[in-house]
Amino acid sequence: MAKANVTFEDINITVSVPAGTRVIEVSEKVGAGITYGCREGDCGTCIMKVTDGWQHLTEPSVLEDKVLRENMAGKHNRLACQAQILGGNISVKPA
Ligand code: FES
Repeated sequence: MAKANVTFEDINITVSVPAGTRVIEVSEKVGAGITYGCREGDCGTCIMKVTDGWQHLTEPSVLEDKVLRENMAGKHNRLACQAQILGGNISVKPA
């Protein structure tokens, strides 16, 4: 299976993960500072900033787009519970 590397800038940790992993799953394990609520793409608590490798994440769903807009998210913000890592290197930090 394809591998990807995700870096959590707030705690300076890089983890190798299988493609298809959601950011929330890793972030929780390593203790990064991204906070969560519903885990279903609804509450907007898990908004994070993608500082690198934006193109290696799945496209936001219609629901995610709506929640991002409602929370006035910037263009490099994503929901950690929705964004799946496809490959390559990405870097994220709490928004
Ligand atoms: S945890 Fe609620 S939108 Fe991600």
